[in-house]
Amino acid sequence: MVLDTTKATAHLKTYERKDGLSIQELIDSRNFGGLTYNDFLVLPGLVSFISTDVNLETKLTKKITLKAPFLSSPMDTVTEENMAIHMSLLGGIGIIHSNCTPDEQAEMVRRVKKYENGFINDPVVVSPDVTVGQIKEMKTQMGFTSFPVTDSGKVGGKLVGIVTSRDVQFHEDDSSKVSEVMTTDVITGAEGIDLDKGNELLRTSKKGKLPIVDKEGRLVSLISLTDLQKNQSYPLASKSFDSKQLLCGAAIGTLDADRERLDKLVAAGLDVVVLDSSNGSSIFQLNMLKWIKSKYPELQVIAGNVVTREQAALLIEAGADALRIGMGSGSICITQEVMACGRPQGTAVYSVAQFANQFGVPCIADGGIGNIGHITKALALGASCVMMGGLLAGTSETPGEYFYRDGKRLKAYRGMGSVDAMQRTSTNANASTSRYFSENDKVFVAQGVSGSVVDKGTIRKFIPYVYNGLQHSLQDIGVQSLTELREKVNAGEVRFEFRTASAQFEGGVHGLYSYEKRLHN
Ligand code: IMP
Repeated sequence: MVLDTTKATAHLKTYERKDGLSIQELIDSRNFGGLTYNDFLVLPGLVSFISTDVNLETKLTKKITLKAPFLSSPMDTVTEENMAIHMSLLGGIGIIHSNCTPDEQAEMVRRVKKYENGFINDPVVVSPDVTVGQIKEMKTQMGFTSFPVTDSGKVGGKLVGIVTSRDVQFHEDDSSKVSEVMTTDVITGAEGIDLDKGNELLRTSKKGKLPIVDKEGRLVSLISLTDLQKNQSYPLASKSFDSKQLLCGAAIGTLDADRERLDKLVAAGLDVVVLDSSNGSSIFQLNMLKWIKSKYPELQVIAGNVVTREQAALLIEAGADALRIGMGSGSICITQEVMACGRPQGTAVYSVAQFANQFGVPCIADGGIGNIGHITKALALGASCVMMGGLLAGTSETPGEYFYRDGKRLKAYRGMGSVDAMQRTSTNANASTSRYFSENDKVFVAQGVSGSVVDKGTIRKFIPYVYNGLQHSLQDIGVQSLTELREKVNAGEVRFEFRTASAQFEGGVHGLYSYEKRLHN
């Protein structure tokens, strides 16, 4: 008998259960083995809205909400101030690493908090004694054409002039001092001026650069016409409600010295601290968490890392405002190999997040995010955000210089548990060793490797690509927000499928002689 086509959806009710697996069934199907992101897929749903209408707002911690669920890892080849500024501008947040002195880390936090879009806070400045020859050289090296001149040759010094290519271009004596050729009649903006007014001043004065000075005439920052023309607007930017400053996170360890480090970070304006440890369920972390909660009750604390419910329960009870999940899943990580400890990331995220979410504690899936699909899966398993190291490594906002090998433009990327990172000693604590409880070791036991990754361009393009991709992914699943995803996964309405090895092969590009994998334009 052929069924009535007009009753196809009604006919679904005759089946005992929906097609595919519920999240619980998916996890239970792996009773004898953990689940990784590649082991399963999410089944598609009904598309009834456009992808740009998908809302990716999410909780980072109990008190902080982000417009995009992305964090950059506290690693010394991933997050310093430039990455933190751009992650925040693009709707996520950067966690500044602590493998440096407390003062250096606090200074980076301060710069993120002081950042204003369109203003250059650390312009290249020269002193009046610099020679015309040096300016010509700087021009070729840096490509800039004008430099503010201050008495000290630094930002914060008294502005005494500006030197432009016009001043030096036809000046034949390269040994002349800048003070002899610079323009002293400089149009300036007063500290506190907004970008629109600064822009207006640039236009009316027909100048390329507008130095911003304080009441005493000291140089504070600079507005540049070329930067303004390139200026992107950042509607998703993560900002504090009151000050409108960008949100900034930083990592610390759990040694006594880290308490002093935290004092400096808080004084610099820190919004959220990450207790950076490969195994968060330690007495050191519990003590640190309790100390922070009594000294800085308003500061949001992300504790971790954890991969089991039992570890999570300890940190939740000690006051964690969010948990970071992952042990051994990072792209540079050899913890599972060397320590025999860890957990496949899919199972870890599900177990911890399902438990922690009941207490209103958001979770961050950390490590092993290699593409947009992994992000969707981490969020479907219960995480509120993902943390990325390798996926962001090699972008221009990461610390370090590019270098060439085999004709490829590369940047270094290394685990914080690699011997290289552990050897980078700082005057106070070495964060990298304390992350692995190795500060007293005579022989380091590496838990990470040191390598390189290909140039990925700027995160100003890459993060919007990831953001759009995630919106499309949720559209395919048929949910219009991360909240809806969570609800429908829990209600068994979003369905899953286990992926065999051959299914994984089928799901990748296959059967081609050659191809180019371009991820975005
Ligand atoms: P990725 O995004 O897969 O590259 O993983 C980054 C994450 O790996 C970080 O956020 C840390 O949690 C973790 N991690 C960083 N350094 C090491 C290491 O040396 N060994 C193990 N895990 C590491």
